[in-house]
Formats: sequence, C-alpha cells, structure tokens
Amino acid sequence: MTARLTEMGRNLLGGLAVALLLCCLAGAAAPAAQAQQAQGQTQGQDVSDQALTGGQVPGGALGSSSRAEFWREVRRGIQGDVSIPNKQAGVLVESGGESWREFRNGPLKTYGAWVVLGMVALLALFFVLRGRIRIEAGPSGRTIQRFDDVDRFAHWLTAVSFVMLALTGMWLLWGRNVLIPVIGPEAYALIAHWGKYAHNFLAFSFIVGFVLMFALWVGDNIPNRHDVMWLLKAGGLFSKHVHPHSRKFNAGQKIIFWAVMVGGISLALSGIGLLFPFETAMWGKTFHVLSGLGVPGLPADVTPRLEMQLNTVWHAAVGLVMIAIILAHIYIGSVGMEGAFAAMGSGRVDENWAREHHDLWVAEVEQKSVEQAGRPLPAE
Ligand code: HEM
Repeated sequence: MTARLTEMGRNLLGGLAVALLLCCLAGAAAPAAQAQQAQGQTQGQDVSDQALTGGQVPGGALGSSSRAEFWREVRRGIQGDVSIPNKQAGVLVESGGESWREFRNGPLKTYGAWVVLGMVALLALFFVLRGRIRIEAGPSGRTIQRFDDVDRFAHWLTAVSFVMLALTGMWLLWGRNVLIPVIGPEAYALIAHWGKYAHNFLAFSFIVGFVLMFALWVGDNIPNRHDVMWLLKAGGLFSKHVHPHSRKFNAGQKIIFWAVMVGGISLALSGIGLLFPFETAMWGKTFHVLSGLGVPGLPADVTPRLEMQLNTVWHAAVGLVMIAIILAHIYIGSVGMEGAFAAMGSGRVDENWAREHHDLWVAEVEQKSVEQAGRPLPAE
C-alpha cells in the first residue's frame, strides 16, 4: 500500500515537472513568435499569411498552396463552395465585371460619341453644301392626303418615345462626363434618377409604336426594282434636277423603316433583359443555337451576370447607331427638305413635292381616285 502511494506521488511530481517545463517553453516561444510576426510586418509582409494558413504556418512559408496563386485564381473569378442556395456567392471577384466596366467606359463611350457626333457633323456639312432641298417646281398650292390619323399617331408615339429614350439613355451613358461638370452632381443625380424611370416606362410606348408602324407600313416597304435605281442615283440628294422614281416609300425610307424595326426589336429584347435581370437568358440561348451551327469560341456557360453585361453593351451600341440613323431622318423630315414635314404634320403634302419625290405613288393615288370618284385627284 505504502509502495503504491509512493509510486502515485512520484507520478504526480513527474507530471507537474513536465507541465512546468511545457509552460516555460511556451512562455519562451510566445515572445519569439511575436518578434517574428513584428519582423514580418515591418518587412511589408501581408499578415493574411497567418489567416490563410490558420496561423499554423507562420512567416514566409507557403502552406498547402501558394498565396499568390490563390489570389490569382480568386482574381480570375474562380468559384468556391458556399452553403447558401446562391452558388454564385462563391465567386469573390467577378472579373468579367471589370472587363465590362472598362469596355463601357472606354471604347463604347468613345466610339459611341464618334458615331453620334459624326452624324451631326455630316448633316451640318450636307446642309452647308446642298442647302435645303427645295420643291424644284415650287409649291403647287394643292395638297394630297399622304398619312391618315392612325399613321401619324403611330409615328409620333414612336418618335416622341424614341427621342426621350435617346436623351435619357445618353444622359446615363455620358452624364458623368458631360453633365456633372456643367450642372453639378446633385442636379445630375436628380436628372439621372427620373431619367431612368422615364427610360424604363417609355420603352413600352416605343414598342407599341413601332409594332403599329410595322403593321401599317410593312406592305409599302418591301424592296422593289425602283429602289436599286434610286440608290444608284443616291436618291437625287446631290443634284437639284434628279428625281428618281419612287412609290410610297423610296429606298432611303425603306432603309430607315427596316433599321427602326430590326433595331427596335433588338433594343426591346435587350432592354427587357435589363429590366428583368436573372429572368431571361437570351444570350445563353443565342450562343447555344450559334454553337450548334458550328460558330466557334462562344462561351458555353452564360451566367446571369454575363447576360446583363452583354445586354447593356449591346443595348447601348444598337441604341447609339439608331440615334445616328434617326438624326439623319429627323433632318430630312424637317429642315433638310421643303414640304416633307407636312406629311407627318397635317398628313397632306404639296402635289409638286409628291410628284418630285414619289411620282409612282401619285400615279397610284390618281388612278384610285379616277376609279372611285371619276377625277384624277381630290382638289384641295
Ligand atoms: C422627332 C422628329 C421626327 C420628325 C420631324 C419626323 C418626320 C417624319 C416625316 C416627315 C415622315 C414622312 C416622310 C414621308 O412623307 O415620306 C416620317 C416618316 C417616318 N418616320 Fe419620322 N420623324 C421623326 C422621328 C422619328 C423617329 C424617332 C422614328 C423612329 C424611331 C421615326 C420613324 C419614321 C419612319 C419609320 C417613317 C417612315 C419611313 C420614312 O419616311 O423614313 N421618325 N418621319
């Protein structure tokens, strides 16, 4: 019994001695570790080394993976595991976002400005060289009905919506560069805020407008052989005495019509994609179809975020090209050509204007008039 107690006491003393020794070693190691950490920091070393390896591998050691390689992968947008349903939250750095931002703030803004301002400059030059296109024979004083109320309603619904969409769109794209230096950030914030609302809602009246225009005018916008001659003669735009044949719409107008239709659909689809993010997958589906047709190099996995990035870039690029085209249309439909505005104003145009620009259409109207009323044209 005594021997057993003696043995237990010896063991206890031994244990205490080992514990004491460990404490001393730990006490000695702590200042050494602190000194090493302080040294690391003074050498500009990132303390995240400690966090990265759970403090297990101090100093310059790499641990199980290279710190540089790890962050490089994160920067490239590698997806980690997360326990929440939104697996995309596992992407710490969305690299595509940076590329998108660079493209939007760089080439898109710069080339977009060239396209729009280039068209303004071209139209100004055309006006200086050619002046206002006059009715060569002078106004006759008699008018012909060209567009009825429904036509003009469809046109002005589309036109007013488009002009507002174009203005608010350009505010959003170039506002920081152009408006803030002039009106200040507060006023710009207010304009951008309401401009965004206007842009969202006017999109719908624009869509209704161009769908109506399509239904009303598609029949008169099918290309025919006269369009080829009209284009070869550049529509007589550069000569006072050349008036190529044309039915209700000439080749130039048909180009505008189809540009509005194709551009309108494109703007509408990409705009809807932007209004309802994460709910449409148009680019994914398009790439899928194109890849099926053998087009190489398209991304197989189009994330909703990439959808948004492609939509904004496409929406803005198509919008800017359309703005340039419509600037030319507005010019020729107002100051650029005597007698043109009346077509969309009162709906009636001067007979001589009509004969010079749409001779075949006048012949059709006359024939109809003879058939229906027994005289060439309703005299007004
Ligand atoms: C805001 C100023 C605008 C003016 C002054 C204007 C003027 C005109 C005029 C006078 C016509 C009739 C031409 C003719 O008798 O043959 C016309 C037709 C037309 N307009 Fe406009 N328009 C404007 C804006 C727009 C906009 C914003 C769009 C579309 C986004 C548009 C699309 C069309 C189309 C597709 C036609 C029929 C084809 C053509 O004549 O080019 N217009 N416009």
